[in-house]
Amino acid sequence: MELTPRLKAVASQVPERARLADVGTDHGYLPVWLLLNGRISKAVASDLRERPLDTAKENARSYGLTERMDFRLCDGLSAIEPDEVDAVTIAGMGGETIAAILEAAPWTREGKTLVLQPMTSFPELRLWLQQHQYSIERETIAREGDRLYTVWTVRGGEMPPLTPAELWAGRQSDDPLRGEYLDYILSKVTRALEGHRAAQKPDEAAIAKLEEVAAGLRNMKEELA
Ligand SMILES: C[S@@+](CC[C@H](N)C(=O)[O-])C[C@H]1O[C@@H](n2cnc3c(N)ncnc32)[C@H](O)[C@@H]1O
Repeated sequence: MELTPRLKAVASQVPERARLADVGTDHGYLPVWLLLNGRISKAVASDLRERPLDTAKENARSYGLTERMDFRLCDGLSAIEPDEVDAVTIAGMGGETIAAILEAAPWTREGKTLVLQPMTSFPELRLWLQQHQYSIERETIAREGDRLYTVWTVRGGEMPPLTPAELWAGRQSDDPLRGEYLDYILSKVTRALEGHRAAQKPDEAAIAKLEEVAAGLRNMKEELA
């Protein structure tokens, strides 16, 4: 069984031998692959919806992993006890959903490793983590087709404040895809700026903020070059 580059990047940040909760597991490929490759000791797979959870159960069964996986039909971590797991993955979901799941499970700050792979709302999620005593310790970038994804290792703790550009693009790194990622984020910011400028009553404060972000991103690009 092969994982896609996005899920492989998530898997690579899961600590060895962890007891893992995979929230929003859908097909269950991530915990199945981690178990098959001897990377984790146990997995709890959760999903809000019955059908994906059934698919995950079926995949676990077909790989002979039924004994080593638990399944929970629940919202986020609501049916998972803190002492059952050391690590939590939340991948392929919007940033707001990820923040809501963590908000309802403050125990995730207590000695757990979180691997987050948001699809949207990057600045909002980074800001939420910063304001809720979580620290982003590592970010990597994965490419799948022509899309780029970021994967974050997060733990409870203070994080030095992020600049406006870092809230959008994360801290500078030597990831081989960093330059492309900065271009991708800069194009998102540029589109947002164009939208604001085209409005009948432009929101000058929002424009100034986005201009600051764009300038910060250009500095990061220069630094990288
Ligand atoms: C796009 S899939 C991502 C699947 C997998 N994690 C991945 O990255 O490939 C999102 C999954 O999250 C589930 N989901 C959405 N909101 C959820 C929540 N609040 N709690 C648990 N699962 C949720 C959906 O039912 C769906 O199966």
